[in-house]
Amino acid sequence: MAHKTDRPFFITFEGIDGCGKTTQLEKAYDYLTASGLTVYKLREPGSTGVAEKIREILLGKNTISDITELLLYEAARADLVDTEIKPLLENGHILLCDRFYDSTTAYQGYGRKLDIAMVKNLHRVAVGDLTPDLTFLFDLDLKTALTRRGQNPDRLESQPEAFFERVRQGFLAIARVESDRVKVIDASRSIEAIFEDVKEQLTQLLGLK
Ligand code: TMP
Repeated sequence: MAHKTDRPFFITFEGIDGCGKTTQLEKAYDYLTASGLTVYKLREPGSTGVAEKIREILLGKNTISDITELLLYEAARADLVDTEIKPLLENGHILLCDRFYDSTTAYQGYGRKLDIAMVKNLHRVAVGDLTPDLTFLFDLDLKTALTRRGQNPDRLESQPEAFFERVRQGFLAIARVESDRVKVIDASRSIEAIFEDVKEQLTQLLGLK
């Protein structure tokens, strides 16, 4: 029978496009549910009616200024936090989220070269004091990531390589500062080898052993 852990957990999956984070999130979901836990999957931007509409604007073929882009990601996040994440955590659930505010720091802060302190202030406007319990950063070189992406690049995926190099370095900078929360996983290996590392972190955090 499905059961809860003794406290809620908020776990996020991060990295550049093509790093394999969504595959790992699905595997983590299957593993935890097979362990008898009730787990919720969310994605950013998206997972609510309003946030999925914002996602369409952000990833569609629109001309969007850097500040507008930043505010739209934060707006989608505020809606998801208010309507889904906070209520689920208050009810003691485990949440797996495909991207969260580290993506905004990396893509809009480092990638678009917006002021990092300003970007981080906006995270607090959008989410209050909510911080993930654990963040996986799937680190991968750009060349390999490009080979793993789909055929039709969206608005973000169409950015030049230098942009993604800054985003990758941005993620690594976050992980250096917040090494307790952000675990860097070498994503150049096989899906199964990567998942062994993910599983180890999850079992430790959730006390599954
Ligand atoms: P996805 O492809 O992982 O679903 O993410 C959608 C795209 O949006 C991806 O290219 C990364 C980008 N993104 C940002 O630029 N800033 C953000 O805050 C988030 C959540 C995603």
